[in-house]
Amino acid sequence: MQKIAIFASGNGSNAENIILQLGDDVVSMVVSSRSDAAVVQRAQRLGVEVVVWDKAFMNEHPDQVLATLKENEVSLIVLAGYLLRLPDYLLEAYPDRIINIHPSLLPLHGGKGMYGIRVHQSVLASRDQVTGITIHYVNAHYDSGEVIFQATCPVYTTDTPELLAERVHALEYQHYPRVIRSLIN
Ligand code: GAR
Repeated sequence: MQKIAIFASGNGSNAENIILQLGDDVVSMVVSSRSDAAVVQRAQRLGVEVVVWDKAFMNEHPDQVLATLKENEVSLIVLAGYLLRLPDYLLEAYPDRIINIHPSLLPLHGGKGMYGIRVHQSVLASRDQVTGITIHYVNAHYDSGEVIFQATCPVYTTDTPELLAERVHALEYQHYPRVIRSLIN
């Protein structure tokens, strides 16, 4: 089984679920873009190595970033609520080996600035009756890489963005670990 790094910027509930489902022998490290993100504590509690690399560090230290990923034998990079645009050198080092999960049915409600609860607000504002998740390869443009997998769930007229987020998160927990496993077997 190949090893993965999870990149996250926030709460980290997907990161935690992936570690619990795949194990800390498969998830060799977590990269957080913020030291105060909840994902840092979640990963540490589960015994997974965590590094904090903010935007400046990622851009200014390509050799160190790539060397650390190599030391940890990372063959697939998994974005799970990661806010920063990845630098080109990383995209070039991991061609078709970086994936992301987005909480809507791309190309709907995607693009720069479309993150977390904002996505669900946009779905409700558009009065969509169906939403879901998209797992896709990452390229140089936000939310536009080749789609690997999508799953859907209903949107109810009584929904709030928070209720919708909960339903979509459940889909993420159900499918992301399984799709990751299929890419590293
Ligand atoms: C997830 O719903 C993920 O799909 C979304 O952020 C949330 C992170 O939750 N990602 C995006 O919106 C990417 N554009 P988590 O931190 O609890 O895993």
